[in-house]
Amino acid sequence: MKYIICKDYKELSCRAADEIAGVLAAKPNAVLGLATGSTPEGLYAELCRRYAAGEIDFSQATGFNLDEYYPIRPEHPQSYHFYMDRHLFLHVNFDRARVHIPDGSTDDPEEECAAYDAAIEAAGGIDLQILGIGQNGHIGFNEPAPALIAGTHPTALTESTLGANARFFAPGESMPHSALTMGMAPILRARKILLLVSGAAKRSVMRRLREGTITTDLPASLLLTHPDTLVLCDREAYPGD
Ligand code: PGA
Repeated sequence: MKYIICKDYKELSCRAADEIAGVLAAKPNAVLGLATGSTPEGLYAELCRRYAAGEIDFSQATGFNLDEYYPIRPEHPQSYHFYMDRHLFLHVNFDRARVHIPDGSTDDPEEECAAYDAAIEAAGGIDLQILGIGQNGHIGFNEPAPALIAGTHPTALTESTLGANARFFAPGESMPHSALTMGMAPILRARKILLLVSGAAKRSVMRRLREGTITTDLPASLLLTHPDTLVLCDREAYPGD
């Protein structure tokens, strides 16, 4: 696991955009694993800026998002479908036929998840996986647990995640307590992983990650087994040595 400490969130976002631009320049039909949350918003804004400036082309790329709430309708403003449209897809030339997000409105979540893994495999796996990290160490919605599930699967959200994400839902609106998430296997099979970490609220989870112990109680620690993971961390999130 390699670290780059960025002076601030803007630099982190630009460096992350550089990584995506590099992958697309080398392989225009690359498969990108995409994340939601507040951390990648700056990255997506920078990608939109570069697209508007004619500096990047997504026309042959494929996207697989990490997760989606369950149940939720794609048009719900807090769905990750809505998020991806607002932050990226409406502003760049991604081919809609090659954009994949788990369907949080499905009647058959198990089948949806199995089909999602099959689609990732049919696309040849993920070239570059973008990840954020939860304050509890989750990646995607792989929450801390005695065991983690390999494949894409439905999962209950922990109190920590519900607490961290409730702010996005309207007062009085109940948020979904479950999600469909890519499992650890497709994530760890990605050829390159980019973990984005910003802000003082992540400093304590980063301290745990840097202890170097691999445990399902800290799902992000499984990234320590991956041969090509780059952590882009801003100074506020970096715990020091
Ligand atoms: P955040 O979420 O970017 O909103 O902090 C990260 C995550 O939960 O994976």
